[in-house]
Amino acid sequence: MKLYISLLGFGKVGRQFVKLVRAKEQDILNWHGIEPKFASVSSSRGYVANPDGLDIDVLAGMAIREQNLAEHPDFVPYGAKDKMDGILPEVAGKDCIKVLVAAASSDFETGEPTLSIMKSAISRGWNIASMEKSPLVVAFDELTEMARKFGVELRYSGATAAGLPTIDIAKISLAGSKVMAIEGILNATTNYVLTLMSEDGISYEEALSMARAHGYAEPDPTRDVMGIDTACKILLIANAAMGCRKKLSDVKITGITHITPRDVASWAIEQRTLKMIGRAWREDDDVKIEVSPMAVPYYDMFAKVNGSGKAVRFVTDLFGELVVTVQEGGPVAAAGSGFKDVINIFRSFQGRI
Ligand SMILES: NC(=O)c1ccc[n+]([C@@H]2O[C@H](COP(=O)([O-])OP(=O)(O)OC[C@H]3O[C@@H](n4cnc5c(N)ncnc54)[C@H](OP(=O)(O)O)[C@@H]3O)[C@@H](O)[C@H]2O)c1
Repeated sequence: MKLYISLLGFGKVGRQFVKLVRAKEQDILNWHGIEPKFASVSSSRGYVANPDGLDIDVLAGMAIREQNLAEHPDFVPYGAKDKMDGILPEVAGKDCIKVLVAAASSDFETGEPTLSIMKSAISRGWNIASMEKSPLVVAFDELTEMARKFGVELRYSGATAAGLPTIDIAKISLAGSKVMAIEGILNATTNYVLTLMSEDGISYEEALSMARAHGYAEPDPTRDVMGIDTACKILLIANAAMGCRKKLSDVKITGITHITPRDVASWAIEQRTLKMIGRAWREDDDVKIEVSPMAVPYYDMFAKVNGSGKAVRFVTDLFGELVVTVQEGGPVAAAGSGFKDVINIFRSFQGRI
């Protein structure tokens, strides 16, 4: 069956996603019966679209060469035609599944422009696989309710620590159990910085500049080091896994900028290491969420998650504690988690998951 993808964003993650679909095109046809087509790809300035499917070799070639989407021969700048009709074309044939893959950059406060595109997509019957956090953090309730009303799926593995499976574990592997608490090392930048501070005894500033040099910190890492990225992720995971409807303003957040080598050394004497932890737990019929650096005992599995690694721990009534860790991160893992969501959306509509 044909599966039409509208890809929002042709940056680091968007290009990886195109390369991944091209590389695994035959596998997903053989394994799942999916025939993937790109109905559109869009960037900040415009889009390319074809209701029968764009030439994937052309897109993959551009992705490999890291070309801007505007260099595509059929590029349509915004303003030339209706933007939503361009990004979300009426695809050819009725017997198909449509997925908007969100890999653009949207405003942290408003979730725009992706939020409006997501809402338009849902109302036109497109499922969502989002690597973007902002639209979900801003309008989780509204998007969830819209997806229910229009009978489409809203998935966001790429927004909740990407290569680290979180929501899928809660919803599939832990089905039937009550999640009592969740803890996670969910941000590669802060884990990398704290690992360097612990292992090399260097200052926060030195560790951050090494993280930048090795590509583990953005030029502006404010949202990472202040704990906001971790807060967005634990918020989305808790809302999905614990059935709450918390907002970012409900999360108590402390960053890592105040941590000194002396703090690290004094915890080491007590056989503990500092980790940036996002945690959610049940308390008095409510769910509390907090992000802060915490001193983890050396025997704890989280203490062994170093560098750019991530981890999540679920505490449940039926299965006790479950810990998952991953080392892979960055655009490849983000694209891979979007790809996984697309496959699972297809399988869900086939009644196979
Ligand atoms: N990089 C990672 O490791 C990672 C991991 C997990 C999640 N994510 C999330 O994935 C998303 C993409 O990340 P990235 O690293 O690929 O960023 P990026 O390299 O900066 O690419 C962003 C893309 O979004 C496009 N864009 C910006 N405004 C747009 C608009 N109004 N409409 C459509 N497209 C628009 C840009 O267009 P132009 O090409 O015209 O500039 C660009 O193609 C972000 O939300 C990020 O938080 C990233």
